[in-house]
Amino acid sequence: MKAHVVLAHPEPKSFNAHLAALARETLVECGWQVTLTDLYADGFDPCEQASHYRTPLNADRFDTQSEQRHASAEGALPPEVTSEIDRLSEADLVILQYPMWWHLPPAILKGWMDRVFVYGEVYKSNFRFENGRFVGKKAMISVTVGTSPETYAFNGRSGDIDLLLWPVNFSLAYVGFDVLPPYVAYGVEAGLRYSDASVVEQRLQDIQENYRARLRHVESDPVVPFNRMADWGDNGRIKPDAPAYSPFIRHREELKID
Ligand SMILES: Cc1cc2nc3c(=O)[nH]c(=O)nc-3n(C[C@H](O)[C@H](O)[C@H](O)COP(=O)(O)O)c2cc1C
Repeated sequence: MKAHVVLAHPEPKSFNAHLAALARETLVECGWQVTLTDLYADGFDPCEQASHYRTPLNADRFDTQSEQRHASAEGALPPEVTSEIDRLSEADLVILQYPMWWHLPPAILKGWMDRVFVYGEVYKSNFRFENGRFVGKKAMISVTVGTSPETYAFNGRSGDIDLLLWPVNFSLAYVGFDVLPPYVAYGVEAGLRYSDASVVEQRLQDIQENYRARLRHVESDPVVPFNRMADWGDNGRIKPDAPAYSPFIRHREELKID
């Protein structure tokens, strides 16, 4: 089994970098082969733009999906994109490791998605979800957040964590991955500490143990449900008898969550 970890954090000594290394170490102990991309260390450019395309379809006006499709067809994708697609293609499990920044992944990881989930090579209209490029593979978010599980509950002041993580998970499902429940490390107070140092140290120890335990049985984790292509009507809306799994895609009645 092969896993690929994508790390999005600027500091090599950060807790996020530590969790990425811990994931690699734990999975290797369990017999996995593991690759790791450290986006900041690699100097990955998250800004999708014309200069990445050496043989553009249209040098006068940069249309992103047209250029992605053209470069896919011509075998002219940027090498840093091709190498990531290759790693994803080889992996049975992909882990995205990042801190919550303004309720979203850091821009470098969003840019990785913009550039690596390429129109043509990775997705197109009949090549997504259950027909997608990465069908049969699993993907999981591993995210650190600054505050407690309570603040990320359905009625918490930081926002419902399931909803906050939905867009990234939806994108993973879009390109075909089976999405595993996220690993959320709560209360990861970095330099700005508001709790007692010993409390934070113990919490970080517990997170590491819990994460290792989670990874040891990651293959048997249940999958987060998303709608399949067959759930959509011709009008692009969910069919009346299809299941709804999230307030992001729901039937007219408000989906109640508690
Ligand atoms: C730009 C920025 C935005 C942040 N936004 C959030 C946020 O929206 N929610 C939250 O819980 N923590 C937020 N934090 C705190 C980080 O999530 C926290 O410091 C990080 O998870 C700790 O991991 P690290 O030690 O590896 O950096 C933010 C931190 C930064 C630098």
